[in-house]
Amino acid sequence: MSYSVKKAVFPVAGLGTRFLPATKSVPKELLPVIDKPLLQYAIEEACAAGIEEFIFVTGPGKSSIEEYLGASPELLSALRNGGKNDVARRLENALLPEDKVFFAFQEHPLGLGHAILCARELVGNEPFAVLLVDDFIHSEVPCLGQLVEVFSKTGGNVLAIEEVPVSEVYRYGVLDPGARNDNLVKINGLVEKPNPEDAPSNLTVVGRYILTPDVFAYLADQREGAGGEIQLTDALARMIGSYPFHGLLFEGERFDCGNKFGLLEATISTALGDPDLRDWLTNRFRDL
Ligand code: UTP
Repeated sequence: MSYSVKKAVFPVAGLGTRFLPATKSVPKELLPVIDKPLLQYAIEEACAAGIEEFIFVTGPGKSSIEEYLGASPELLSALRNGGKNDVARRLENALLPEDKVFFAFQEHPLGLGHAILCARELVGNEPFAVLLVDDFIHSEVPCLGQLVEVFSKTGGNVLAIEEVPVSEVYRYGVLDPGARNDNLVKINGLVEKPNPEDAPSNLTVVGRYILTPDVFAYLADQREGAGGEIQLTDALARMIGSYPFHGLLFEGERFDCGNKFGLLEATISTALGDPDLRDWLTNRFRDL
């Protein structure tokens, strides 16, 4: 049997406190790497992975995300009238079809698990992807596409994972790994933000998931966990043993754009990969 994934959930209702004061008026998810918002990179990754329906979980103060995803006829005609047809075309190409975009609302930022639960009605009873847009990933094959490929064979839950220094595990969901087959690791346990001395490994969950819709039933009665939030990791941990459950050590490099170091690193790395910016940037660094 072969499994496929057509819907993706983008939880974008968090407060982005680590980027205050910028995030007072600009959601973290719209902060740019060079000239594209983090959200746009994740949307393009989802499109490349064959996603057809896009569900955004927004919250209070996040209306600019809806504006960003909507058509902008005045802007397009101003660009065209000014002879900037190429820019207009770029904007149009980036726009998702209106009937493929859906919004759920998370009244209060009670945690990632709760944000995903808010998308329950829109997802319905089919497997779906989750993308945390502040995990910015450079890879040859888009990370979500790598997960979809694995999922087509395994079904169940498939999570992107990576190795981090042991001293860093307290920031992540951490795996208790089982049998490993090349880059695919069976997951025997999951724990959110453990102390390094209690962590079952240094393999951590990255913000790309493919989940069975059964996760909603677990999220619905999930109690608060680390940080007083309803954690996705805790609900997933309760599913282990009842569903196929794998982590993929994906090919690529992740930048944690939820903090300023990661966003800066992602920006520099992206600029170094751009022929128009690379020489300029290296020369400027030399001068500085
Ligand atoms: P983060 O924990 O990185 O985002 O959640 P945050 O809470 O906004 O950031 P800080 O810690 O205050 O700086 C990862 C993703 O999950 C979303 C966030 O918007 C982010 O894109 N999220 C988080 C929600 O949608 N709802 C929540 O309750 C929590």
